[in-house]
Amino acid sequence: MSPPAASPIRRATPDDITALVAIEHACFAGDRLDRRRFRYLLTAANAVTLIDEHNGVPRGYLMLLFRTNSSAARIYSIATHPGHARSGVAASLLGAAEALARRHGCRRQRLEIRADNQASLSLFQRRGYQAFGAYPAYYHDGMDAVRLEKTLLMCDRPAGKERRQRAL
Ligand SMILES: CC(C)(COP(=O)(O)OP(=O)(O)OC[C@H]1O[C@@H](n2cnc3c(N)ncnc32)[C@H](O)[C@@H]1OP(=O)(O)O)[C@@H](O)C(=O)NCCC(=O)NCCS
Repeated sequence: MSPPAASPIRRATPDDITALVAIEHACFAGDRLDRRRFRYLLTAANAVTLIDEHNGVPRGYLMLLFRTNSSAARIYSIATHPGHARSGVAASLLGAAEALARRHGCRRQRLEIRADNQASLSLFQRRGYQAFGAYPAYYHDGMDAVRLEKTLLMCDRPAGKERRQRAL
């Protein structure tokens, strides 16, 4: 029997900044992370960026923030390059991020999403995230943010691909 395919998800490093900025530009019209911000976050002690790279091609990323004395991890950003949309990239990144947060001892995972971002709302709500509030006029164009949260059960056993990503 052949061994399982290598996980395409790994921790990003400063060598990935050009690829991350390219994904950012392809995905967001405003409020983008620039090279400087990526460089800061990629070396910050409280941030982990996961990158999905398939056959040497970066397809998407997810950035997770941890806070001292907080049991909640925060998804700061998630994006899949449009050329790889609907291939399960974001779903895999999210599974890996949840596994990572559990290993950090986090009980909850949170994020904010534009109220008009149907694709992202669907991604998270279908995976157990629930709205618990809003930030009015949170974005550069005045759009509200919906706050979402998921309880991370410590007894959840990751399945399939996620199980192979435990070492991230
Ligand atoms: C939202 C986003 C990250 C989804 O990435 P993706 O890799 O294409 O998503 P996946 O293929 O893993 O799909 C996972 C789920 O996302 C949702 N989804 C993704 N694209 C969607 C679309 N165009 N319309 C509706 N739902 C969508 C679905 O619920 C999907 O699950 P399903 O395939 O079982 O229906 C991607 O569209 C993106 O990068 N958008 C621009 C950046 C952005 O808005 N980031 C979120 C900020 S919070």
